[in-house]
Order: sequence, then structure tokens, then C-alpha cells
Amino acid sequence: PVLSTVSLTVNGTARELELDLRTTLLDALREHLDLTGTKKGCDHGQCGACTVMVNGRRINSCLTLAVLHQGDEVTTIEGLGTPDDLHPMQDAFVRHDGYQCGYCTPGQIVSAVAVLDEVKAGIPSHVTADLATAPEASNVELRERMSGNICRCGAYSNIAEAMAEVAG
Ligand code: FES
Repeated sequence: PVLSTVSLTVNGTARELELDLRTTLLDALREHLDLTGTKKGCDHGQCGACTVMVNGRRINSCLTLAVLHQGDEVTTIEGLGTPDDLHPMQDAFVRHDGYQCGYCTPGQIVSAVAVLDEVKAGIPSHVTADLATAPEASNVELRERMSGNICRCGAYSNIAEAMAEVAG
């Protein structure tokens, strides 16, 4: 294999990796940095289990090569909160039962955090609603924005409730 050095920041820590050029960002995180919170569901961009943030925007980490992320800042579920100090979105997922088996949950939560950032930044979705004044419409908007994250257990309603609570 052709190896390349990749320097990137993961959850606030500078990391340097010697990687096969064909290594996806997902495999770099899981297999080279031992950050196994990010899950591999389909490995081809269909399920959202591998969602991470790169420079503040969510992506499917299975669809991109690690070498394309020289100098980037990557945030995984491990970078959002800890068991003793949950991120507000993690806390809301727990209280609203936003999961059943839990496999999709890290991707769901990273996506949910990024979605609320997208809303704040005014990035439009196909369905746009006023989150403060139209809770029913906002639920539809949040579901639309989360449509790339599949949950086979069907926890969608509870996920939307958790997100609506954090959105305020
Ligand atoms: Fe990346 Fe399914 S594992 S979208």
C-alpha cells in the first residue's frame, strides 16, 4: 500500500497518522485512533451511523478519505460529552428515549447537534419552520434535516422530541 502522513485535529487533540491512501476517515477514527463511538453501518453513505463533524459541518465519514482532511478539525461523539458530563443533546436523548438498540445513536446525536447549528446559521432545508413559534412544523423540519440518519428501531419521534427540546 501507498502510505501517507495525515495531520488533523480530533476532538481538540492534534493527531498524526501514517495511513494507506485508501483509508476512509471512518476507518482512521475507529481503527487507528480507537474512537469506536463512530459506527460503521452500511459503509456506503446510506445510514448516517458514521456521522462526524469536520470543521463544524456534518459528513458521512465512510464516504471520504482520511488523506483529504489534512489540517481539518474533526469532532466525534467522544468529543461532545463524557458519561459524567453529557452534552445537552446526549442528555435530551437519554431523557426522551431517543434510541432503542443504540447502534445509530452516536451518528444521530452528532447529526442532531450539527442540525441545530445549521438552523442557527440560517442554512435552509427543504422544509423550513420557525422553531420557536411553530413546534409542529419545526418537528417536520427537524425530521427532514435528520433524514440521512436511519434508525431501524424507529426511535424517530423521540429523537425529534429531544432535538426540539434542545432547540428551545
Ligand atoms: Fe457511513 Fe452508513 S456507515 S452512511
